[in-house]
Amino acid sequence: MPVRLFLSSGDLVADRRFDFARDLQLKGDLVAAADLLLQATELAPGFASAWFTLGEIRERLGERDAAIAAFRKAQETDPADRHGAGLRLMLLGAGRLSAMPQAYVRALFDQYAPKFETALVDDLGYRGPALLFKAVLAARAAARKPAFFRRAIDLGCGTGLAAAAFEKNVDRFIGIDLSPRMIEKARSTGLYAELEVDDMLQGLRSKPEASAELILAADAMVYVADLAPVLAEARRVLVSGGVLAFTTETHDGEGVIIGGGLRYAHGADYVRESVEAAGLNLSQLEERSARNEDSAPVPGLVVVATKP
Ligand SMILES: C[S@@+](CC[C@H](N)C(=O)[O-])C[C@H]1O[C@@H](n2cnc3c(N)ncnc32)[C@H](O)[C@@H]1O
Repeated sequence: MPVRLFLSSGDLVADRRFDFARDLQLKGDLVAAADLLLQATELAPGFASAWFTLGEIRERLGERDAAIAAFRKAQETDPADRHGAGLRLMLLGAGRLSAMPQAYVRALFDQYAPKFETALVDDLGYRGPALLFKAVLAARAAARKPAFFRRAIDLGCGTGLAAAAFEKNVDRFIGIDLSPRMIEKARSTGLYAELEVDDMLQGLRSKPEASAELILAADAMVYVADLAPVLAEARRVLVSGGVLAFTTETHDGEGVIIGGGLRYAHGADYVRESVEAAGLNLSQLEERSARNEDSAPVPGLVVVATKP
């Protein structure tokens, strides 16, 4: 994503070295940039942005071990891990697959919010909400039930694109998202009765049992490694016959991996087993891509499940 997080070191000289290093990095002089970043970290050892950028540069220079050491420093100096150094370590094979740091997701989407819709819809051909809408209509038609829902919850609601797609079919929407800026955008649509800045799992936990007919997650499960806890809570919150629909990215292998785009990809068997283990009935699991990358569709799944 075309946004970069910068956390000042609090030391003017170190910050200035960082700026010079970024200039050099953008001009392609990676060795000189790395050298300046090292100097910046000597001046300010707790300078997480410098450690993180050093990690990226060392990775590009093919210095894997040095990159790992720098990313570990970035994590250590910013335990909330707003840069997502832990994800880079996972990609380098130096960390176990684990949950995405909430502070990273929040920082990423807070910065992304002003240009989110242009970037995602126009540049990446994003079609997650339309895919979910079509899939939910098909699942309801197959079950001979109307596709109208009194209460719906939009997990990782972002700016509100999924609520817009379902607007005519839902009476009352609750939106939950980690990013306050995305929530502000969602609020300005007027599509939601309630909006919560929260992690989707925590948000679901605060909802009464059997209190929603529909739960959606459009392009949001790609930020959740382990689907089991969210699926179990979704089952609790849905009424009997209620519908859960989500998109995710996928891969040909087993289980869950982290992709180069720093999003998780869930294998089809993993999704099927997780849905069933949560006590939901799988109505649909289809290979459909919700967005493009480098002008090619990213492999994805559209999943619809029903509470018995
Ligand atoms: C790619 S956007 C999709 C937004 C929207 N659903 C749409 O279709 O346009 C992903 C959103 O999920 C949110 N998100 C990611 N992980 C989350 C979590 N664990 N809990 C709540 N929101 C999360 C992000 O903040 C971001 O707004």
